[in-house]
Amino acid sequence: MRALSLSLRPASPEDAPVLHGLFLRSPGYFALIGMEPPTLEDVLQDLRTLPQDPRRRAFLLLLEEEAVGYLDYKLHYPEARDATLSLLLIREDRQGQGLGKRALRHLLGHLAGVERLYAVVYGHNPRAKTFFRSQGFRHVKDGGPALSWYVREL
Ligand code: ACO
Repeated sequence: MRALSLSLRPASPEDAPVLHGLFLRSPGYFALIGMEPPTLEDVLQDLRTLPQDPRRRAFLLLLEEEAVGYLDYKLHYPEARDATLSLLLIREDRQGQGLGKRALRHLLGHLAGVERLYAVVYGHNPRAKTFFRSQGFRHVKDGGPALSWYVREL
């Protein structure tokens, strides 16, 4: 069977309803980090602020035409040749099907010149930690009780 094609599309304010829908369909993640899913207005505001941070990149992850995930990272952070992933989210009903792995592979394709990719895992999230370890990341440090930093050399 042919694998459906996965692509990354830069997220813009027009994508707010789609991204909000993605978050609402992923309640397990927000329960895990002890937060309410953002409102549509929150999502819109966040997407509107993207141009104010030229290092930040946010993408919708599309499987054919369907939004199945979201990726948010920062280039040149913490150091010039680093990038830091703040959120990779696969829609809850599509988790565990290899999409996280494929999304990460796509992301690596966007990171020419980057030598280290960090992943910051928020909250008690053993699944995310297992995921990043399985993808070649190692634990670097805990930044307070709720933040764990992982890194992969590229
Ligand atoms: N329990 C433990 N390990 C798992 C699980 C699970 N339920 N699911 C996947 N993994 C691990 C396995 O090692 C797996 O490798 P294998 O298939 O060779 O056994 C590997 O992760 C890759 O599995 P995928 O199917 O590609 O993972 P998925 O598509 O579910 O993506 C992700 C993983 C991104 C953590 C997803 O589950 C998700 O979106 N979770 C909710 C949001 C979240 O917590 N994101 C991470 C926040 S931290 C950050 O982004 C820096």
